[in-house]
Amino acid sequence: MSILITGGAGYIGSHTCVELLNAGYDIIVLDNFSNSSPESLNRVKELTDRDFKVYEVDLLDREKVELVFEENHIDAVIHFAGLKAVGESVSIPIYYYQNNITGTLVLLDIMKKYHVKNIVFSSSATVYGTHAKVPLVEDEILGATNPYGSTKLMIEQILKDVFIADSSWSIALLRYFNPIGAHVSGKIGEDPKGIPNNLMPYVTQVAAGKLDRLSVFGSDYPTHDGTGVRDYIHVMDLAIGHIKALEKVMNGTGVEAYNLGTGVGYSVLDLINAFEQATNIKIPYHITDRRPGDIATCYASPMKAKKELGWEAKKDINDMCRDAWNWQSNNPNGYKKEEIITI
Ligand code: WQD
Repeated sequence: MSILITGGAGYIGSHTCVELLNAGYDIIVLDNFSNSSPESLNRVKELTDRDFKVYEVDLLDREKVELVFEENHIDAVIHFAGLKAVGESVSIPIYYYQNNITGTLVLLDIMKKYHVKNIVFSSSATVYGTHAKVPLVEDEILGATNPYGSTKLMIEQILKDVFIADSSWSIALLRYFNPIGAHVSGKIGEDPKGIPNNLMPYVTQVAAGKLDRLSVFGSDYPTHDGTGVRDYIHVMDLAIGHIKALEKVMNGTGVEAYNLGTGVGYSVLDLINAFEQATNIKIPYHITDRRPGDIATCYASPMKAKKELGWEAKKDINDMCRDAWNWQSNNPNGYKKEEIITI
């Protein structure tokens, strides 16, 4: 079985490639490396002792995307490729819609042309409206609060309409909660560009001494300790969730959404404490104002994925913190080659 992974060099994509290869799938990776490094794929090859084709292609380049389908037999697509920074999407919405929506439309049109009608889509918990009740269930009210979340919601709608038009498609919409951690080897992990937006990579860079201290965005939320509560999930659990979704997609037709979360919420202070316990490293922090657009609490009901995919998260917050630090401490500059300072 041969799977095309768009955005396969990214954080979740690279971890999913490892699991796919270990499960015996053949893979082809398409990535434009705008927010990822080819080095991550070299590490995937090292970790799995498997080889695979890599195409440096932008989904907006229709001709080059078509060539990938021309040159390869593809049974299904796992579609990760897309911009994903909430704050950035507010300042450059046209770029986000162009990249995420138009790129997906090009992909789907070519899939249709080559009769590839199986797809697992990388969606997000941001498609749930701010008033949705926790624990979030898949048929909860949907609504985006930023352009990034809107692109995910629109692509979910596009895929539902594709199925209505042609019921031979088989589609899984995977709504991620907060992916953190890294492969146990420490060879692949999260490598954000510049100053991290997300909590865990910020914490690990403070632990590594690259950043001074963590700003805790608000301590006046209606939560047990006033700081934001999220459903953190180990990226390896998330990767395995994709394998399970792929199996479901390959054995039937339809379009279904699934939460990939643990069902457990941890606050910012809980996460700091868990990280300090797991690594024995103190994380200095100070409380600042809330970050605009943040919500108080977000965590999943993972029951549908458990029932229909036979999947549930296995790793706990200690595993997530330990593996996140193992990656950061072994790769202080992420995938960038170590700076050689010549004296
Ligand atoms: C988590 C908590 C912050 C940074 C985002 C995207 C979502 C998904 C995951 C793609 C919040 C607090 C954070 C910091 C802090 N990505 N925080 N100081 O915002 O829940 O979700 O990433 O799909 O779409 O929206 O994740 O890690 O940014 O924040 O106090 O320096 O940590 O307020 O409570 P978020 P996050």
